[in-house]
Amino acid sequence: MTWWKEAVVYQIYPRSFQDSNGDGIGDIPGIIQRLDYLQTLGVDVIWLSPVYASPNDDNGYDISDYEAIHPEFGTMEDMEQLIDEAKERGIRIVMDLVVNHTSDEHAWFQSAKSNIDSPYRDYYIWRDPVNGKAPNELRSAFSGSAWKYEPQTNQYYLHLFSKKQPDLNWENEQMRKDIYQMMNRWLDKGIGGFRMDVIDLLGKDADNQITGNGPRLHEFLKEMRRETFEHYDVMTVGESWVVTPETAPLFADESSKELNMMFQFEHLMLDEQPNTSKWQLKSLDLPEFKQVFNKWQTQLPETTWNSLFWNNHDTPRIVSRFGDDQTFSVESAKMLAILLHMMKGTPYIYQGEEIGMTNYPIQQIDQAQDIESLNLYEEKLAEGWTEAEIMETINAKGRDNARTPMQWTAGQNGGFTDGEPWMTVNPNTSEINVQAAVNDEQSVFYTYQKLIHLRKEHPIIVKGTFKLLLKDHPHIFAYEREFEGETWLVTANFSPETIRCSLAETSTPNIPMIANYDRSEYDLNELTLAPYEAFVVKVESNEN
Ligand code: GLC
Ligand code: CA
Repeated sequence: MTWWKEAVVYQIYPRSFQDSNGDGIGDIPGIIQRLDYLQTLGVDVIWLSPVYASPNDDNGYDISDYEAIHPEFGTMEDMEQLIDEAKERGIRIVMDLVVNHTSDEHAWFQSAKSNIDSPYRDYYIWRDPVNGKAPNELRSAFSGSAWKYEPQTNQYYLHLFSKKQPDLNWENEQMRKDIYQMMNRWLDKGIGGFRMDVIDLLGKDADNQITGNGPRLHEFLKEMRRETFEHYDVMTVGESWVVTPETAPLFADESSKELNMMFQFEHLMLDEQPNTSKWQLKSLDLPEFKQVFNKWQTQLPETTWNSLFWNNHDTPRIVSRFGDDQTFSVESAKMLAILLHMMKGTPYIYQGEEIGMTNYPIQQIDQAQDIESLNLYEEKLAEGWTEAEIMETINAKGRDNARTPMQWTAGQNGGFTDGEPWMTVNPNTSEINVQAAVNDEQSVFYTYQKLIHLRKEHPIIVKGTFKLLLKDHPHIFAYEREFEGETWLVTANFSPETIRCSLAETSTPNIPMIANYDRSEYDLNELTLAPYEAFVVKVESNEN
């Protein structure tokens, strides 16, 4: 079954979605209250960021019990109710599977840490000190060494993320079996699949400092599929920051028998200096950006599926990043939506994107919540960056940008909570909020809704081939989709200027399928595109 090719997925970051009991933290009953809204938007799947028991060192990506719901989020009964009520509305719930690491407060690690003979010791990665120091130079994604010394047993353990996120040892067969059983118990609850956190790290070879795409990675993923989701009608999507069009088929080709699709980030790494880190900023070069999409749209085998996304809980808000969140906030948010949803692959919408939510810059580091930003601040200060430089990059790239509470109304705390929100609500909730969006036919919300409807009605959007046009143009992003003799042209002005260009030798007026300006037809021969203007038209196919 390949329903996931036709589907549109909506990501919920539960802590910030909807609070139902006034404690300032979003929760599962809050999500249930908003299912009607998601049904109106038209999405088919919810990807739920982690709701499991967790000490929240990394907001739930540090799990202390895979089979318990964090009390802040509700109970297992609430979770089952969410699955059922979503199902009634034709929506499936995809769970976040975080199995590269657990929390250090997981029972396995608690046992492993204190006792070298524990059956769980080998569930983690332990090494002796080398000359009194860490075994090697591996670094944590959240700054500093990836090794932490445990005096109780005189060894180091590996943590590629925070020291409260010890890496699991996938070489251990019993550990793998325990994980598969846990996955099957979730699958038996009727979930719609898994989003797999940093999945390319599973096969790591810590001694040789190989983290991504390690030697046994694909063996483990094949085994995982055989032992778990192969037997259910579900979807799977793996996260990888290093996957390329060459390696994507290893994970996601039908013949590989692993996952359905991957999240790749190449298009989100072009506003940073090459081969540095996301913190070294650079402005976006449109031809380079188009080339990356072109590669992913055309170089994958027919049998390898794409995912499409602009943002998630780890990245800045797209309208603030590649659009203009001031003068042309509505136009550019719609342009970005049209451009992405017309490509080939399964689109993902991150909560609030559908109403054009923006970044929320902070003034001082004590306003940051995210462990990544807090650690970065210390690291960069030590390296000699100025306070201003650090704040600039945190405001551009920090993960808190995406994590401010969902803006439901113009009222107190944006309707997110009656209490004190765990994180400050962006004051622009006075203008950007769901209530206003739903009451305004011209809002960003209706562009997303229409894109989802178009996808259901026109197989070309799911199945058509992709062809990039004007590849060197510095401001226009244009491409064609083609299916069974039908051709659609998608054109977007990626700039705040008015741009003239010509796209086809045709004089027939072209009526837009969808657009972000109120124009009844487009003359492709002589186009004048307003700032961030985008439209889709059906054109005469070259083949006919
Ligand atoms: C993924 C998650 C991110 C988390 C990290 C470690 O990248 O999306 O939020 O911090 O993995 O689990
Ligand atoms: Ca709550």
